[in-house]
Amino acid sequence: MQPSVLVTRATFPDIADRLRRYFAVEDNPDDTIWPQPELIRRLQGRQGAMTTGSERIDATLLDACPQLRAVCNVGVGYNNVDVAACTARGVLLTNTPDVLTETTADFGFALMMATARRVTESERFLRRGEWIKTGRFDQFLGPDVHGATLGILGMGRIGQAIARRGALGFRMQVIYHNRSRLDLAVEAACGARYVDKQTLLAQADHLVLVVPYSAGSHHAIGAAELARMKPTATLTNIARGGIVDDAALAQALREGRIAAAGLDVFEGEPKVPPALLELPNVVLTPHIGSASVATRHAMAALTADNLIAALGCGPNAGKPQTPVNPEVLK
Ligand code: DGY
Repeated sequence: MQPSVLVTRATFPDIADRLRRYFAVEDNPDDTIWPQPELIRRLQGRQGAMTTGSERIDATLLDACPQLRAVCNVGVGYNNVDVAACTARGVLLTNTPDVLTETTADFGFALMMATARRVTESERFLRRGEWIKTGRFDQFLGPDVHGATLGILGMGRIGQAIARRGALGFRMQVIYHNRSRLDLAVEAACGARYVDKQTLLAQADHLVLVVPYSAGSHHAIGAAELARMKPTATLTNIARGGIVDDAALAQALREGRIAAAGLDVFEGEPKVPPALLELPNVVLTPHIGSASVATRHAMAALTADNLIAALGCGPNAGKPQTPVNPEVLK
């Protein structure tokens, strides 16, 4: 009998067709976000799942779905999945590194620039018809990006790709902080200098967060960290909600303790804190860092191929490309 898989969110038609060559597939073309009990009910009796960051894969779900063998998550981050619980039950988890690096770095840079140069704030002004009435030469002034100091917290693949853009394209001084320092050759290739976190906070003109979410990075940027930043600095978060204390950030922005923020991710997303929605000096986007046509398709294709291989089918049977807990395969 064919294995059975659940695709939890809408995907590209050709990806659903690829899965149908090997599996009985229930997909979700209407893109309904199923409440947890319904997600569990739909997963029961199935061997595989293609999931996204909006589903929570925890021990309760895994215990209710003992046939599940593989959870293939669309995204490089997988903080929606209890990895230890998967491993303990022999469930393979895969993610989608590499294919989204450059696209997400493009977006991080775009969000940082939009934040510094007040792009959305001035667009709202124009759309209200204000230009004609109140436009002035000294309006919407913001800090420069070129030549400024770019601070990066979290220097994995995406952090390095942002560093290259800053150093090579915009002649920025790039400083970074990471759990472990990079090899000197890698630092040189992306034009970045390692500093401690306090120095990063104090020296960055534009601070970009690209650190993965974990208990250790929860509220890595809170009131104390914001207080160390320059009042002219911008903060951009393309990593995960929860890394920034949104309430402390809203207060710092309201009081002008930093200049502006660009946020693609939020602690309780898809909800956005009303305090942030009310502020003019924050650019808000709905978690679209990897959302280019080619990259979202590549992420879905890699996930489908992982699922096919993880369930012992296709040309790479038994050898999914990007396992998070490869020990399960042994
Ligand atoms: C990722 O790849 O982790 C993106 O944030 C999408 O969830």
